[in-house]
Amino acid sequence: MATIDTILSETRVFAPSEAFRKQATVSGMDAYKALCAKAESDYEGFWGALAKEHISWHKPFSNVLDETKAPFYRWFYDGEMNVSYNCLDRHLADKSNKTALIFEADDGKVTKVTYQDLYHRVCQFANALKAQGVAKGDRVIIYMPMSIEAVVAMQACARIGGIHSVVFGGFSAKSLHERIIDAGAKLVITADEGMRGGKAVALKSAVDDAIGMGGCDCVEKVVVYKRTGGNVHWDAQRDQWWHEAIIGQADTCEPVWVNAEDPLFILYTSGSTGKPKGVQHSSAGFLLGAILSMKWVFDHKADDVYWCTADVGWITGHTYVAYGPLAMGGTEVIFEGVPTYPDAGRFWKLIQDHKVTTFYTAPTAIRSLIKLGSDLPKQYDLSSLRLLGTVGEPINPEAWMWYYETVGQGHCPIVDTWWQTETGSNMIAPLPGAVPTKPGSCTLPLPGIIADIVDEQGGPIEKGQGGILVIKRPFPSQLRTLWGDPERYKNTYFPAELGGKMYLAGDSAHRDKDGYFWIMGRIDDVLNVSGHRLGTMEIESALVANPLVAEAAVVGKPHDIKGESVVAFVVLKGQRPTGDAAREVVAQLREWVGKEIGPIAKPDEIRFGDNLPKTRSGKIMRRLLRSIAKGEEITSDTSTLENPAILEQLKETVK
Ligand code: PRX
Repeated sequence: MATIDTILSETRVFAPSEAFRKQATVSGMDAYKALCAKAESDYEGFWGALAKEHISWHKPFSNVLDETKAPFYRWFYDGEMNVSYNCLDRHLADKSNKTALIFEADDGKVTKVTYQDLYHRVCQFANALKAQGVAKGDRVIIYMPMSIEAVVAMQACARIGGIHSVVFGGFSAKSLHERIIDAGAKLVITADEGMRGGKAVALKSAVDDAIGMGGCDCVEKVVVYKRTGGNVHWDAQRDQWWHEAIIGQADTCEPVWVNAEDPLFILYTSGSTGKPKGVQHSSAGFLLGAILSMKWVFDHKADDVYWCTADVGWITGHTYVAYGPLAMGGTEVIFEGVPTYPDAGRFWKLIQDHKVTTFYTAPTAIRSLIKLGSDLPKQYDLSSLRLLGTVGEPINPEAWMWYYETVGQGHCPIVDTWWQTETGSNMIAPLPGAVPTKPGSCTLPLPGIIADIVDEQGGPIEKGQGGILVIKRPFPSQLRTLWGDPERYKNTYFPAELGGKMYLAGDSAHRDKDGYFWIMGRIDDVLNVSGHRLGTMEIESALVANPLVAEAAVVGKPHDIKGESVVAFVVLKGQRPTGDAAREVVAQLREWVGKEIGPIAKPDEIRFGDNLPKTRSGKIMRRLLRSIAKGEEITSDTSTLENPAILEQLKETVK
């Protein structure tokens, strides 16, 4: 892959500036190394002290880590606390008038919310949820646009010990249906519609469709936030407007004290099988990861204006929108719209208007904004920026350099943060006042994160060689299990081949002479399209569910902007189509996948064959399909193929 080649030959190094280093929370390499050494010499002491210092406990914990049922780890497990209390109540004494949220709507309307206001809104909505019958441990699905209300809904669940499961608004009714059932949700919170790029996105109707598919008897109520006032179908028994649900509810609400290990949320993500996994996170460990990374990686300061562009439907929007910045008592921007509306200067205008100091986004967004107007940032005053971050996929050195020079104007460190839905918070990322950065590398693990690269049996690899990325010791913010499927949790993340105790991230990586990590890509059948994680099997199952389709195989192909694009090889039940007929079927199948999973999963390319390349034992040779998708010459031996002639058909794209 061209990107990886450029990354591997990258030699530029950017040390923190003197000015940045001086003011940084972790200042200088020695300070970073001292923290790492502390963690290594007394692992539990290190984490225990941090948890005591950074979390307000209702009942202090006396035990740090319980490994007796490994890999089902427990952290701070006899302590009691509440995440919402830590994000709101504890700031009221000295920050009640501080702005917590600056919300900018798609149309540019700005709403600011202070800590005092947010506290009352969360309390009032928490009381409304209780009145709808939500109690500790109940699951609540949140299917909302980016909004103040989405954060209020998440915080309100946390306040009463409810377990939220946010479903990204770009997922289809079918995906929502699966998640409602898997989580056994009692309540769904949604909006009539969202607004993105001047267009309304129907949300309530998707909830109606999802519940209408049957099997959702667990859902007792649907609470609907009125965002646009668009027409919605109404079930008077089941549906309840948000603004009506809060009428008469008190604006204070005693938090429900939960055990450190009680689940805060479930977030579904794609894996190697067709069925999404419900990643379950704890309360205290998750919060600790969010706080420490805000402090160490984002060097968070009291007067920062922090802006993470991720949607709350993804883990980044959980840790760095709904929880981390609020736990720090910080001010953050929340944006409803898209980077290109009304034009490709929108992000830069937001940074200028709200004097954003810390900006965190995905390489895909950076690459698309370079393409749409590489000079645009110069038309805005970006002098408030002091730190930039990226997340979700490898960043190519060219995009990194543009981000550094054009957006950061050569004085903002870039934190390239490697982590996952499962890890809950940043794992490998530079501490910007300490660790020199290299374009394309996420650099070194956070203190206390014992990351390594091993071979397929968990053994050491030769220096400089690529291998499998693992984390060798449990850490507080890691997932606790997969909702309802502990066996899958064990087998997926702590496979016996690696000894059953190492966390298998699912990525391959290599380390350079300075010990820096360079992420190479997934080792499983997971694609990373525009920073969104998609399982190839999920898309294949969606395709074969179409009555026209007999068989399908999906692979990724490098893409300049999206990182990877989705290429599907399809065998129809009828004849292999060509010309207009093929174009027609392609359009139908793309639409179909959009409905089955969501628009983000629509294949970019679909090719047809009379069959797929298989070994004599019937196994689809995906390696060959990847080469075909990339347009590479096939030089490997294809003699084991049952049907070599198929390859020629599959080389043909539908134009
Ligand atoms: O392959 C890695 C890639 O994204 C995967 C995790 O995806 P998800 O759970 O959706 O979380 C994304 C946001 C945390 C990883 O296994 N990935 C994430 N961050 C980086 C990355 N690849 C390279 N560099 C990164 N900084």
